[in-house]
Amino acid sequence: MKRIDQRRRSLLGGIGGVAGVAALSPSLLLSACGNDLSADSSTGVVSASEADKDEVDVDFRLRARRDTVPILPGAPSEVWRYEAAMFHGPANTLTPVSESYPGPLIRLRRGQRVRARLENRLPEDTTIHWHGLHVPPDVDGQPRLPIKPGDDMTVTFDVRDRAGLYWYHPHPHGADGGRVGFQSYAGLAGPLVIEDDIESALGLPDGEQELILILQDRSFAGDNELTYLGGMGSMMTRMQGFLGDRVLVNGRPPETRDVGTRAYRLRILNGSNARIYKLAWSDGQPVTVIGTDGGLLAKPRQLPYVTLAPAQRVDVWIDLSQADVGQQLSLVSEQYRGGMMGGMMGRSALPAGARFDLLGLRVTDRARDGRSLPQSLDPELATPPVTAATPIRRFELGMRMMRGFSINGRQFEGAKVADDEIVALGDTEIWEFANDTRMPHPMHVHGLQFAVIGRQTFSGRRGWSGLDAGLVDAGLHDTVLVLPGERVRVALTFNDFKGLYIYHCHNMEHEDNGMMRYYRVRA
Ligand code: C2O
Ligand code: CU
Ligand code: CU
Repeated sequence: MKRIDQRRRSLLGGIGGVAGVAALSPSLLLSACGNDLSADSSTGVVSASEADKDEVDVDFRLRARRDTVPILPGAPSEVWRYEAAMFHGPANTLTPVSESYPGPLIRLRRGQRVRARLENRLPEDTTIHWHGLHVPPDVDGQPRLPIKPGDDMTVTFDVRDRAGLYWYHPHPHGADGGRVGFQSYAGLAGPLVIEDDIESALGLPDGEQELILILQDRSFAGDNELTYLGGMGSMMTRMQGFLGDRVLVNGRPPETRDVGTRAYRLRILNGSNARIYKLAWSDGQPVTVIGTDGGLLAKPRQLPYVTLAPAQRVDVWIDLSQADVGQQLSLVSEQYRGGMMGGMMGRSALPAGARFDLLGLRVTDRARDGRSLPQSLDPELATPPVTAATPIRRFELGMRMMRGFSINGRQFEGAKVADDEIVALGDTEIWEFANDTRMPHPMHVHGLQFAVIGRQTFSGRRGWSGLDAGLVDAGLHDTVLVLPGERVRVALTFNDFKGLYIYHCHNMEHEDNGMMRYYRVRA
């Protein structure tokens, strides 16, 4: 991993400057929108998509590139980001999230056939992974299929997933270790929404009443330069995972929005490298959860707060119809105990478990909204069929002194798969993750959504407390938080696609430092 001295060089400055510091406006971001391929001619790339345009419902490109965007007040910051252009498809497929670095919101519909061209204009290898999507291995953006600097890759896939909030981010891992943490941190990540008929029939809040919130933490030096690992703290940071000095929402400092006396749908993605959020309302009212990683719950659930680990998503309903004009409410991350190492080893000004605001809602407008919370969201919600005979596969999450973390004593070895990492197509299994370390591990499995079927504490929590009541285990997930001293069981079915996928801890520093493995789905 590249080492960058935090005091003297910017995160990205060592890799090359960026000409021009003009703020990138949302209109510029999507300036190549429309069906006109000529908008793309400046790159000299000949699109292969024109001839068979009609075979796909959606055709767009994502270009990973360096850029300079406004993040904090004052000087703009150098970032890496996805710039998008639409070739073909519904007009609402791509929308900017903000004028900061996050990639555009990609809105797809179940049943669509999608083609995406990925262009690497970065100085190093990258990939684009569709986090949470049930797609074939070749489309999954895995480390074994890197896109070289200057190269393009086109992927085509069918949208088979349930309506929900998913996301996309890089997944490169070279000889020197992973670069997921660095590249995501530099700005390469964006939200992806899938819609379907079941969800549409519910008439959930949309338009202005649907808020997409990407939670990330960042550190800045001098002139608003992003800083990542570096200096003395980097070893500890890698063990703990990176914690930034401040929290950003959609790439900007948290803000207050004007809202009406209506219902709102907050679709929240934890896009942070390592931070766990404890989402709560400032007035103490419970949080109404309607969905998780894999889409809508069977019915809404109320929790005192929601524990959201890296890569996880939650769908929250908030009804302000009874609020008074002038009233204010904040979405906050509440205090919790975030380990014993937090203060001592972490260099962050915002240690794990610190309290902070994420979003203010100011009621300014008396509005009429006939919506009420549906009591049933998806009664057909199917989870993998588990019986007494379902086999259990065990994964021991361990620590290697000063060498990161491991799964069953192994670290990442590229596409090498051990005998106990092979599953059969069509099978349902129970995977049990046992965490005997001092750190929480949000475990993620590629290519599918699973059900969390059991959670048990087998030893002490090692300084992590105050998060349990917010764990949403209902519904479908692609990432599950395994707290220190916990054993968590998930049920998964390996449907449709044979081949190689990965599973890993989504603390990106853990993942980059070995806590990732391939598994194989055999015929
Ligand atoms: Cu967000 Cu391997 O994934
Ligand atoms: Cu993933
Ligand atoms: Cu981990």
